[in-house]
Amino acid sequence: GRKPRVLSGIQPTADSFHLGNYLGALRQWVRLQDTHETFYCVVDLHAITVEHDPALLLERTRRSAAQLLAIGLDPEEGALFVQSQVPEHAQLSWVLECQTGFGEASRMTQFKDKAARQGTDRASVGLFTYPVLQAADILLYQANAVPVGEDQRQHLELSRNLAQRFNNRFGPTLTVPEPHIVTDTAKIYDLQDPTAKMSKSASSAGGLIELMEDPKRSAKKIRSAVTDAGREIVYDPEGKPGVSNLLIIYSALTDRPVAELETAYEGKGYGDLKKDVAEVLVEFVEPFQQRVRSYLDDVAELDKLLTRGAERARDVASATLSEVYRRIGF
Ligand code: ADP
Ligand code: NA
Repeated sequence: GRKPRVLSGIQPTADSFHLGNYLGALRQWVRLQDTHETFYCVVDLHAITVEHDPALLLERTRRSAAQLLAIGLDPEEGALFVQSQVPEHAQLSWVLECQTGFGEASRMTQFKDKAARQGTDRASVGLFTYPVLQAADILLYQANAVPVGEDQRQHLELSRNLAQRFNNRFGPTLTVPEPHIVTDTAKIYDLQDPTAKMSKSASSAGGLIELMEDPKRSAKKIRSAVTDAGREIVYDPEGKPGVSNLLIIYSALTDRPVAELETAYEGKGYGDLKKDVAEVLVEFVEPFQQRVRSYLDDVAELDKLLTRGAERARDVASATLSEVYRRIGF
């Protein structure tokens, strides 16, 4: 039979992905290409749920796609596309909104958090229904698996409920997706506050490694990372969050187990560790940035590649939508 399908998306809301995005999520996207039929999208429909600048959005959508290609997504292997270029996302979302309870949508904790940040009255209805659009993203491709972090569990649960509900009301139509728990994923912490996760919105400049920033700047941030009392280099997230974060980053970038690193750094100091982590980071980032630049140097070719990705996605999406429309009496 065919390989199981996986769907994932990422928002084009920054000029650069950060190291947490890469080591915590995007790196797994690359690996899943071996075992799954992959559908990966830059979710620009989601990016307009909050205020945005139109010129910046288009630029960031292209930059996001270029970065995804540069980390190793193969546009021949899977479908890589921009969400707004596949109108079926918005179309299925409407149908699913009509199957979602107002109370059910109101229980989504991410909306509460995000809306509270802008003042709940100012938050858009789009932000409110965002989890339903996410369900449409997944269900359109009959995805079997969705890679999920802790923060997205509730949304995947909604997608599963909506698929089951639709199937019960209208007949078997939508695949109920399972969470794909990634085992080799790393949660990366803020370099200046290693008890908080590295985040584009919450981290200070010194705490955040942006993949597109000057690698010298990244190296400096690593060398200035907050470490802990004592001098031993051991993995102890409770007692030594700073050192543990550096070990995790090092391990993820080199595929060397943390235990092996602990042994290698016996008798050495924090400075040695930081210097080496900075070095492996720069070794990863420099060729990555070169690849990004080569994609961005030819925007016409990049756009063509994304158009082909959208066509490929639409083959599947339009078949699902037709069946959904038929089932509901359109
Ligand atoms: P941010 O939290 O910086 O706004 P997003 O919410 O856009 O990032 O996250 C995009 C993806 O990157 C998600 O799959 C998320 O789980 C992952 N991710 C974000 N920050 C980290 C981190 N510090 N460590 C590991 N994964 C992360
Ligand atoms: Na987030």
